[in-house]
Amino acid sequence: MSRLALRGDLLDLDADPGLDDASGPGARFRPDHWLLIEDGRIVAVQPQAPGEDWPREDHRGRLILPGFIDTHVHSGQIDVIGAYGTALLDWLEKHTFPAERRMADADHAQRISALFLDALLATGTTSASVFPTVHATSVNALFEQAQARGMRLIAGKVLMDRHAPDFLRDDVVQAELDSRALIERWHGNGRLAYAVTPRFAPTSSDAQLAMAGRLLASTPGLYMQTHVAENQDEVRWVAELFPQARSYLDVYAQHGLLTERAIFAHGIWLDDADRAALRASGAQLSHCPSSNLFLGSGLFDWAAAQAAGIPVSLGCDVGGGTSLSMLRTMADAYKVQAMAGRRLTAWKTLYAATLGAARALRLDHEIGSLAVGTLADVAVWDWAVGPVAARRHEVARDVHDRLFAWMTLGDERNLVATFVAGQRRYGSTALRTP
Ligand code: GUN
Ligand code: ZN
Repeated sequence: MSRLALRGDLLDLDADPGLDDASGPGARFRPDHWLLIEDGRIVAVQPQAPGEDWPREDHRGRLILPGFIDTHVHSGQIDVIGAYGTALLDWLEKHTFPAERRMADADHAQRISALFLDALLATGTTSASVFPTVHATSVNALFEQAQARGMRLIAGKVLMDRHAPDFLRDDVVQAELDSRALIERWHGNGRLAYAVTPRFAPTSSDAQLAMAGRLLASTPGLYMQTHVAENQDEVRWVAELFPQARSYLDVYAQHGLLTERAIFAHGIWLDDADRAALRASGAQLSHCPSSNLFLGSGLFDWAAAQAAGIPVSLGCDVGGGTSLSMLRTMADAYKVQAMAGRRLTAWKTLYAATLGAARALRLDHEIGSLAVGTLADVAVWDWAVGPVAARRHEVARDVHDRLFAWMTLGDERNLVATFVAGQRRYGSTALRTP
C-alpha cells in the first residue's frame, strides 16, 4: 500500500459558486489541514496529523488545490505559440497547418507530446481534453505519453477532409477506419477516453460530419470536441457552406454531434436559440480567453451562458492561446468579463478550471475536487512569489482577496509540486517546507 500525507491550506469547491458572489458559496477552505492519500486516492481530509506510519510532506502556509482541468488545447501547436499578426483563418493557413504537418512523424510526435504534457504538469494541469492532429501517429503518441504519466486525458484524431492543405486532409473512409482503430485501442484504457474530433465545420464535408455522428453513437462514453462560433469571418463562412443550417451550432446538431459529452470551444458568436439548444443537450462550452484576446476573436458572454444554464469550463487553447497555464487563463477570463462591465469571482474561475469542468465531463467522481474517494490529482502552490506578490498577500483582506491576488499575480513559478493519482509528476522529491 502506498501512502502520502500532505499538509497545507486545502481549497476546493463542492458547488457552482455563481459568477459574482465573492462570499464564496460552494467554496471549501480548510487552512492547515492534512490531505491523506492511499493508493492514489484521497482517503481523508483532517485537521490533525496522521499516525507516524504516514510518509508526509509539510507544506504549511501553501495552497493545495485539485489539479486543473484544461478542456481545450492543441498538442500539435506548441511550435506556433505567439505567432505574430493574424486572425483565426489566416493564422490557421499561415502558421498552424504547417506546424501540424510535422506531427505525421512518429519521433517528432512523441517528443512534442512528452514536452506538451510535462509542460501542462509544470503549470498544475493534470487533466485535459486535447486536439492532437489529423495523423493517427499524433494520437497514439499523446495517449502513450499521457498513460506513462497516469493522466486523465481525452483526445481523438482530428477530422478534416476539405479546406485544408493536402498534407492535412483525410477522407471519410480512411478517417473512419483510423478512428475506429484508435477508439478500440484507447477509449477506456486506464484514464484515457476518446473524443470524436471534427476540427470545425468548415474543414469537414457533410459526409464526414455524418460519419462523426455515427462514430459518436457507436460506442458508449465517447466525447465529442470541436470549435464553434469563434470568429465573425468564420461564422459567415459557415453560413455560406451550410445554408440549410439555422446557425453554426446547428450544423453540429444536425449531424448528431450536440450531446451531453460534447465540448464546444469558444462559443463567442452564439444566439439565444443556440444557448437553449446547448442547455437542452447538456454540452459544455470551453471558454478560451487567452486565445480570444490574442487572435482578436471577441469577448465571450459568460453571463448569458450562465443564465442559460450552460456549463462553462476553461481552455488555454495553445497555440491560439499564449500560455499553457490555467492560472493565466483564469486571469484572462476575469479581464474579458471586465471588458463587458462584469466582475467574475476567483471562486467561479477556480470552479470552471476544476469541479465545473469535471462535472461537465461527467468525471467528478474521479477529478476536480479534494473529495474523499476521488483520485489524488493535486497541486501545491506558493501563495506568493517575489516581494510585490508577498506584500499583496500580506495585506489581503480575506480568502477571496488572497485567492484573487494569487490568480492575478501568480504563474508557474508559484507551483511547488504536482501529483497525479498520488504520484509526484512535477517538483522536487525532497521534502519542501516553506
Ligand atoms: N478553429 C479551427 N481550428 C482551430 C485551431 O486550431 N485553433 C483555434 N483557436 N480555432 C480553430
Ligand atoms: Zn482550438
